[in-house]
Amino acid sequence: MAQPIRSIAVIGSGYMGNQIALQCAAGGGSVCLHDTSEVALENSAVCLSEFLDRMIDDRCAAVDQRQSILDRIRRTTVLAEAATDADLVIEAVREDLAVKREVFHELDKLCPPDAILATNSSSIRISRIESATKRPGKLLNAHFVQPVWKHPFVELMRGSSTSDETILAVQSFMTSIGVAPVLVRKQSTGFIFNRIWRAVKKEALRVVDQGIATVEDVDRTWMIQMETPMGPLAMMDIIGLDVVRDIELVYHEESGDPSDAPPRVLLDKIANGQLGVKTGQGFYAYPNPAWQSPDFLSQASP
Ligand SMILES: NC(=O)c1ccc[n+]([C@@H]2O[C@H](COP(=O)([O-])OP(=O)(O)OC[C@H]3O[C@@H](n4cnc5c(N)ncnc54)[C@H](O)[C@@H]3O)[C@@H](O)[C@H]2O)c1
Repeated sequence: MAQPIRSIAVIGSGYMGNQIALQCAAGGGSVCLHDTSEVALENSAVCLSEFLDRMIDDRCAAVDQRQSILDRIRRTTVLAEAATDADLVIEAVREDLAVKREVFHELDKLCPPDAILATNSSSIRISRIESATKRPGKLLNAHFVQPVWKHPFVELMRGSSTSDETILAVQSFMTSIGVAPVLVRKQSTGFIFNRIWRAVKKEALRVVDQGIATVEDVDRTWMIQMETPMGPLAMMDIIGLDVVRDIELVYHEESGDPSDAPPRVLLDKIANGQLGVKTGQGFYAYPNPAWQSPDFLSQASP
């Protein structure tokens, strides 16, 4: 029986990496957060603190644990520091196959031979990464959703030779940090949730791109019909429009279908530096987007 996972390296201190690091630390793990960007790691100190306050507000972490949770997260720009004593690595760098393969190649050289390496990719199957390492039995997809503490489930998916022991160890670890593991039973680009969410995203963007409806009306119709607090375009602003584009590119590259290419309305936003909440402007302006106003659902389109 393998040793329980105690030491976790999270690679990429962006939107997801910070949340994953916090969830692991709140669950008692010792975490090392790595990013190649010093700026990202500096921002991460603020992000960790803000996300943790939200976790506490949502009663997903105890206020008297605040400092000890933060103390369990180290941050470094040196990959080897994060990798050398890791039992589990969770990679959360940008959605780019070549970048992820390079990260896994380096991790494979630096991590202990027993370490398990997981990717939080939104769409890339681990089997497309495994040839960059010499440990295919110890690799898997571990796809979290945001915000991690409020939606505590993770989709686990095998590569071509992931061992049962690897899956069991990660299932047990996820349960221990309060995240429900869901096993994807066949290799699937986008796993379970993102396959369904991707269909919604793609059509919402196309409806706007084809001039059929405004951003606001697409979100309004969705919010009223599905009784949700936000629509798909607002959700894309939160995810990051560059992240949405990168995911669409994975589907497009796999299918070759022109209708899978990221639509112009998305590419134009990105070209103008409008990436969503993180830049203060995406489909909506932040910090007080129109979709949060009390009369948003009853407003008529111009
Ligand atoms: N944003 C979401 O809602 C969401 C949800 C689930 C999964 N994901 C997936 O998680 C991953 C990260 O997404 P994100 O939204 O956190 O992106 P992000 O852009 O917020 O963060 C990515 C971070 O990775 C760092 N980075 C880039 N190359 C690196 C390298 N070689 N080594 C170390 N760090 C590197 C960047 O500096 C950046 O800080 C992607 O694969 C994405 O598809 C995103």
